[in-house]
Formats: sequence, structure tokens, C-alpha cells
Amino acid sequence: MAASSPYVLGVAGSPRRNGNTTVLLQEALRGAAAKGAETRTVYLSELSISPCRHCDQCLEEGRCAIEDDMRWLSGELRGSDFLILASPIFFMGVTAQTKAMIDRCQALWVIKYVLKLPVARNHDGKRKGLFISVGNATLPDLFQPAIATVKSWFATLDIAYAGDLLFSGIDKRGDIVNHPTAMREAFLAGQSLIEID
Ligand SMILES: Cc1cc2nc3c(=O)[nH]c(=O)nc-3n(C[C@H](O)[C@H](O)[C@H](O)COP(=O)(O)O)c2cc1C
Repeated sequence: MAASSPYVLGVAGSPRRNGNTTVLLQEALRGAAAKGAETRTVYLSELSISPCRHCDQCLEEGRCAIEDDMRWLSGELRGSDFLILASPIFFMGVTAQTKAMIDRCQALWVIKYVLKLPVARNHDGKRKGLFISVGNATLPDLFQPAIATVKSWFATLDIAYAGDLLFSGIDKRGDIVNHPTAMREAFLAGQSLIEID
């Protein structure tokens, strides 16, 4: 962890600004802030992030050829001490906004696995991340495909998968606020993310 306050980056992957996952993300960040963390939220739906073109230009120097908001966001992803990703389930996976960002981390995959250089910046290697998701269905394996995607992304970023907050049967904007435990669970998860070694 950096010597100053731990820095937690929250990534909101829902296209709804005040949607269920974003509300949970804010609550988790509030928990982290209550333990002294500095926090920032990025709203992917408000950024310009085009999908990966598989042009393979990143294979040379680990730099993506596309000039858009991933230029600065990949720096944030490499520099944060902790990461919280919040995305609802869309057709059994993360949202398109979230997947576009993840795929654009192919340049970081190249840095790590091809160039064999550090992905995390200014860090001692204890980065940890949390995944927050909700879906309307109540299928037993509803979150498994998204979890697999997020775990693979975290591994590329050298972030340990510290856990997840997953709520099914949640659909309308604001439904999550009426859940008996979700908001409290999110606050506590944000606190423990930065506490547990
Ligand atoms: C395009 C689209 C696809 C969806 N696909 C699923 C799905 O496969 N399974 C599910 O349980 N819910 C699905 N949902 C419902 C959302 O996950 C649900 O409304 C969720 O509460 C939205 O979270 P948000 O408010 O954070 O955006 C889908 C919603 C949309 C708009």
C-alpha cells in the first residue's frame, strides 16, 4: 500500500447513473472512506471507450493505438491501491461498457505477459479488488460468467480477487435500497477491503 491514504478506484459499469450497482458502489466507497481511504468514481457510460480492434499494435510496446478515455483510465487502473468494479448482469455477463473497458486492457495484458513488465505502478503488490453485481433473475449460476470475466481481468491487473457482493431479484432503479441487508453489506465490504491483509 502507498505511504499516504490508500486510494480506491470505483468503476461504475451500469448505463444508469443512479442504478442499483452504482448505489452499492457508492456505499462501498463510503465504507472505505470511513477507514481513511481516498476514493474516486468513474462512470463508464460517460466516457468514450471504444471496443478493442485486435489490431495487435499493443504487442510492440504495450500501448493501445486507440486515442480515447482509456488513455488516462488505464493509468488509474495501474495506479490505484484498491479497485471496486460494479456492473449489473446484462445477458449473463457484464455490461457492454464494462466489457469494452476490460478488453481494452489487452495492452496491460501485453505489458504483463509479453513484455514481462510490472502492471501495477508505485505499488508493493498487495492490490485487491471487489466485484459488485446485481441481476433480475434468480438463477443459481447467474453471476458465474461475469465472475470469471472479472477474475481474469483482475489477474491481468495484478489485483487479488478479495470477494464480491451479488444480489439477484433486483431490477428497477432503486430496488437495492429496499433490500434488507445490501446497503449495510456494501458499506462493510468497502471497509474490510482496505483493512484485511
Ligand atoms: C440489456 C439488459 C440485459 C439484461 N440481462 C439480464 C440477465 O441476463 N440476467 C438478469 O438477471 N438480469 C438482466 N437484466 C436486468 C438487470 O441486471 C437489472 O435491471 C439490474 O438491476 C440493473 O442494474 P443497474 O440498476 O445497476 O443498472 C438485464 C437488463 C438489461 C437492460
